[in-house]
Amino acid sequence: MTTAIIGTGGLGSAIARLLASGGEALRLSSADRQAAQTLAAQIGPAAVVAVDNHDALQGADAVILALRFTVLKGVIDEIGDQLAGKVVVVPSNPLSVDPQGKVYRLLPEGQSSGKVVAGWLPAGARLAMAFGTMSADLLRSSGHRSPEPAVLFYATDDDRAGSEVERLIRTAGFEPVKAGGIEQSGRLEVGGDLHDLVIGPAEARSLIGEA
Ligand SMILES: NC(=O)c1ccc[n+]([C@@H]2O[C@H](COP(=O)([O-])OP(=O)(O)OC[C@H]3O[C@@H](n4cnc5c(N)ncnc54)[C@H](OP(=O)(O)O)[C@@H]3O)[C@@H](O)[C@H]2O)c1
Repeated sequence: MTTAIIGTGGLGSAIARLLASGGEALRLSSADRQAAQTLAAQIGPAAVVAVDNHDALQGADAVILALRFTVLKGVIDEIGDQLAGKVVVVPSNPLSVDPQGKVYRLLPEGQSSGKVVAGWLPAGARLAMAFGTMSADLLRSSGHRSPEPAVLFYATDDDRAGSEVERLIRTAGFEPVKAGGIEQSGRLEVGGDLHDLVIGPAEARSLIGEA
């Protein structure tokens, strides 16, 4: 299967390496084209660098938008005509940094980032919020954990997006656990109770009330 990854910075590159190590074919695109090319060269034949964001989606079963929240809407608008029927995976936390270096939330308290992103997507796009539930460092060090895989939580309102993101999470070496619908995405973000946890499936399910 083939996945497009748009944005190959700290998180996008960590996701790309994990997916490639699980056998996924990747189409990479980034404003930082040099970074995308270096990453593809390190990954090997499983990763190709697309000409641009549009080209990245050619033949891809899903697209992961590993972008800062502030540029996310612009990229969705740019590739929107290709997103109908496509599984769109968004790991973005709604954060920015002020001139003093202080991190702040871009959305009002209680407003779900997933709902906001869903409102930006064209009709027919199939959204899952996933892969942004832990820091890139933790993600890198927790993939393919043995004997019990670590969990990655996701949130979606769309069954097909759910199946595809579960496949991607397993390919990356984690066990998927659904936290709930898109409105639950706040629990997955920085500051949410399910963020930055490296836990197994039983504990994860008890945290979301399934156990
Ligand atoms: N890093 C983490 O530990 C982590 C963990 C969880 C969630 N997240 C979330 O993941 C998202 C990405 O974070 P990050 O740390 O990977 O950020 P990052 O290192 O800044 O990477 C973002 C990448 O997107 C590229 N980009 C910017 N505008 C673009 C465009 N129009 N088209 C294509 N590519 C574009 C950037 O290129 P340029 O550098 O040239 O602008 C950069 O390579 C954020 O929303 C963050 O909240 C990050």
